[in-house]
Amino acid sequence: MPSLQDELVIKGMRMRNRLALPPLTTNYGTDEGYVTDNIIRFYEKRSRDVGLVIVEATSVRPDGRLVKGSLGLWEDAQVEGMRRLAHTIKNNGSAAVVQLNHAGARCYPTGGKLQGASPSGFAFNPQVQPLVMNQEHIDEMVYDFACAAARAQEAGFDGVEVHGAHFYLISQFLSPLTNQRSDSYGGNARARARFAVQVVKAIKDKLGEDFPVLFRINALENVEGGQSLDDSIAVSKLLAEAGVDILDVSVISQATWKEIDGRRYLLPASAFPKDQPAGANIPPTAKIREAVGLPVIGVGKLGQGTVAAESVNKSLIDMAAVGRQMIADPDTAGRLLAGMPEQITPCHERMSCFASIRKGEPLQCKVNKDLP
Ligand SMILES: Cc1cc2nc3c(=O)[nH]c(=O)nc-3n(C[C@H](O)[C@H](O)[C@H](O)COP(=O)(O)O)c2cc1C
Repeated sequence: MPSLQDELVIKGMRMRNRLALPPLTTNYGTDEGYVTDNIIRFYEKRSRDVGLVIVEATSVRPDGRLVKGSLGLWEDAQVEGMRRLAHTIKNNGSAAVVQLNHAGARCYPTGGKLQGASPSGFAFNPQVQPLVMNQEHIDEMVYDFACAAARAQEAGFDGVEVHGAHFYLISQFLSPLTNQRSDSYGGNARARARFAVQVVKAIKDKLGEDFPVLFRINALENVEGGQSLDDSIAVSKLLAEAGVDILDVSVISQATWKEIDGRRYLLPASAFPKDQPAGANIPPTAKIREAVGLPVIGVGKLGQGTVAAESVNKSLIDMAAVGRQMIADPDTAGRLLAGMPEQITPCHERMSCFASIRKGEPLQCKVNKDLP
């Protein structure tokens, strides 16, 4: 029976145990996307016990940042700081992966040629006018993902994760809600996955089959017209064929619509609200694992109690990622591994972490006032 303490080796990437730090945008980077001392501090504290750290959404282009302080890998000068970050994480004994992203029409408005890039012009806020991508834009974006991945490798990361969840650019292509294209990039799940598959293949072509590529996908989008579990399974199979090594399975737990000046905007949430039970995302994640046959990372309130350990024991997931609870208490992973969950300082799900990011401020936490 697999346990939380077991190591896992994928394509030569050794993870000493089955706990992961999922990508958590801190907004601690500089306005130019560079690593800061606060970034180093945040990850140093949270890489001491886990088997894998997935560094927060890092932009492949300056016009695709999620917040102003998002990290970047769009230019060579950013490699040095990222090398320091990868070294910090690996020096603590954890594998280091960085999540690559373009926020598409959910970007922070900084201008730029592909600001607001989107499959079909679906707007997420009044500040960013969506840009419907043509073939040239798509080709350029695929190339930018591959170049950013090459910089990640140069910086010493063990692998990259392609962000295909949470309604950022790739997810906008995957979701039937935001992809209404009538060309070869729109239509059924296979067609909507074309862009994601091209990104993965471009990374594999550039860096070789053996460089681990993770893919973050929404198992489900709990919003009318969103991606279903069957869609996600179909897409995940195509991603596996394209070379993805690990699926990091997230969810759109809920979405609200906000009306501004007569236009409706979607506000999707990637973390379960307080009334949802721990591990609510485990059953769909396990279905994807079973149908696709790739190792999966599960996420969603796995930081307290025994749900992470039990989900791994039952082979429902291969790794358990712990997000907000690791912000609140960086020793969470060590305590879970030691079988002492009662010693964890609990996250109260007040969501001030999300709220601070949404306001464009550096990450804050009501429990851990000493951040980073
Ligand atoms: C402040 C904050 C920032 C986040 N940033 C990212 C991100 O950059 N990329 C991503 O894929 N998910 C991001 N997430 C989602 C988390 O990775 C995770 O899936 C979510 O918090 C659910 O896990 P939890 O219940 O353990 O917190 C973020 C979550 C929080 C709270």
